[in-house]
Amino acid sequence: MSNYHIKHLEEYFQVYRKSVQNPEAFWEEIAEEHFVWRSKWDRVLSWDFTKPEIKWFEGAELNITENCLDRHLPTKRNNTAIIFEPNDPKEEAQHITYGQLHESVCRMANVLKENGIKKGDRICVYLPMIPELAYTVLACARVGAIHSVVFAGFSSNALATRINDCDCKMVITSDGSYRGNKIIDLKGIVDVALEDCPGVEKVLVTKRTGGKVKMKKNRDFWLKPLLDEAYADNDAERMKSEDPLFILYTSGSTGKPKGMVHTCAGYMVYTAYTFKNIFQYRDGDVYWCTADIGWITGHSYIIYGPLANGATTVMFEGVPSYPDYGRFWEVVEKHKVNQFYTAPTAIRALAKENLEFVEKYDLSSLKVLGSVGEPINEEAWHWYNNNVGHGKSPIVDTWWQTETGGIMISPIPYVTPTTPTYATLPFIGIQPALMDEEGHEIMGIQVDGRLCIKFPWPSMARTIWGDHERYRDTYFTAYKNKYFTGDGAMRDEVGYYRITGRVDDVIIVSGHNLGTAPIEDAINEHPAVAESAIVGFPHDIKGNALYGFVILKEIGEARDRENLKKEINQQITEHIGPIAKLDKIQFVPGLPKTRSGKIMRRILRKIASGDTENLGDISTLLNPEVVKEVMDNAL
Ligand code: WTA
Repeated sequence: MSNYHIKHLEEYFQVYRKSVQNPEAFWEEIAEEHFVWRSKWDRVLSWDFTKPEIKWFEGAELNITENCLDRHLPTKRNNTAIIFEPNDPKEEAQHITYGQLHESVCRMANVLKENGIKKGDRICVYLPMIPELAYTVLACARVGAIHSVVFAGFSSNALATRINDCDCKMVITSDGSYRGNKIIDLKGIVDVALEDCPGVEKVLVTKRTGGKVKMKKNRDFWLKPLLDEAYADNDAERMKSEDPLFILYTSGSTGKPKGMVHTCAGYMVYTAYTFKNIFQYRDGDVYWCTADIGWITGHSYIIYGPLANGATTVMFEGVPSYPDYGRFWEVVEKHKVNQFYTAPTAIRALAKENLEFVEKYDLSSLKVLGSVGEPINEEAWHWYNNNVGHGKSPIVDTWWQTETGGIMISPIPYVTPTTPTYATLPFIGIQPALMDEEGHEIMGIQVDGRLCIKFPWPSMARTIWGDHERYRDTYFTAYKNKYFTGDGAMRDEVGYYRITGRVDDVIIVSGHNLGTAPIEDAINEHPAVAESAIVGFPHDIKGNALYGFVILKEIGEARDRENLKKEINQQITEHIGPIAKLDKIQFVPGLPKTRSGKIMRRILRKIASGDTENLGDISTLLNPEVVKEVMDNAL
């Protein structure tokens, strides 16, 4: 029996048992049989969650791009690796074969080297969803440079923070980007960011929109001529298993964004293995994940997981609403997509539009539908199942995180019976635990608690760049000897898990994780603002939207309120990006606080969601009188 491709439920249980009874033997077999190594490991796993220190396949050497590219060349040179679907449907799609992708990555790798990049250097990638993004990411991996992809919707400020946090030496960007009918001046955003980034030596710029850009002498270079001159072959760097592969920033509930560090071997093994099973990918299938490569979903399930399996993966530059709300389905029909992976927020947005946008297209190629990023509500689940899957394509509701690197809890399609809103069973090798607030594991079924993972898995993040202590404090101190996810979950009578949402101050808006503290910091910098508190409230399409309670200074009191609201959102756009803008802003005379001065967000959340019946005991507050006032003027 091959454990690599699970095809029925009995097999899942068998393999699962094996993977938890003897994890090392299990992962060793997967790693041995399905990947190419320059040299083998001395030890499969060593771990200590108290330090925390986790090492997989120690002693081995490899290059992930040899697994994603070179090894497929003998059999798949002319197979399509990437289908690039542009923003504008009138522009032709590109089918990039494994042979071509290999060549482009090699050229790019040589360009990096010629421009002074060495193993271990950090490179910031700020690009739209165009093929150069895939080339760049893979080229970094090929030369052993650590890529830090920053979603090209982040502002200059947010970009600068991320560039400086990990001391990037180089930035790779484009002149501009297309998003629907908008053109965004990416290079301009980079230029502003770099005013505060003294460590950046070079900027390589690819042409996409042909917009006017300023090129700074001796710093900025057009990419195309460099690529044209570069050799089309490149020897991949020998990487140690635990060498960093990339850094990807995610929001924490407080402080600056956390640069999660993923390493080479374990990440490769786990993303490839999950991809194969959770999408039941078979040779010849066309797989499409609509995420942006600026997020972990794009890293693991557009680039590394699919390519390690020799799959055909679609890269989509556009948005679901352009030129109309039928775009996703048009692309599914056009490329005969077999596996489609998107986010609940997109499903909800499309479900609001006329059904004709879906019905117009032939979706019969679809075999598997995926969902990721936030809990999928029952209504959206049914709409997806009925109108996109026609009741025939199982929905895989995949729960995981930037920190986990790969999918952790999910059905395996055609294997695990699905239930709406349930991520169902832990994937192979994953040992979840539900914990109570006193730190005890809650056993049994029909229980809920805080979701932890008891045992290491290969693709877990190993640290936070430059701040190992924060890594320990955030994930390994709440519950002894366990990784704490920050999510709540329940386990039903058959052992299925349902994720109930964040239990910390991270709010998921349209699938993007936003920490409340950085947004509050941005608002508080406005000269008219004294203090603020942000909470989430339920939103039809975004899942959650942001509600800000803002206390004004005296100078603010005299100002026009509507203008102030605009300025506050402008302030947030500049500091973080438009994704963090507030839907509602209420000016308040005070914020409910505990006697020790902590803002009672629980009460604000209730007010924001209009649920003011059960505010609980407010008598212990420092300023209970403020609650009524805030409530009476709620928006
Ligand atoms: C949430 C995205 C419910 C969860 C891969 C998690 C989900 C956070 C699901 C991580 C799901 C992700 N059901 N909630 N299927 N998938 N989440 O780091 O709160 O962007 O902790 O990784 O999204 O978001 P991140």
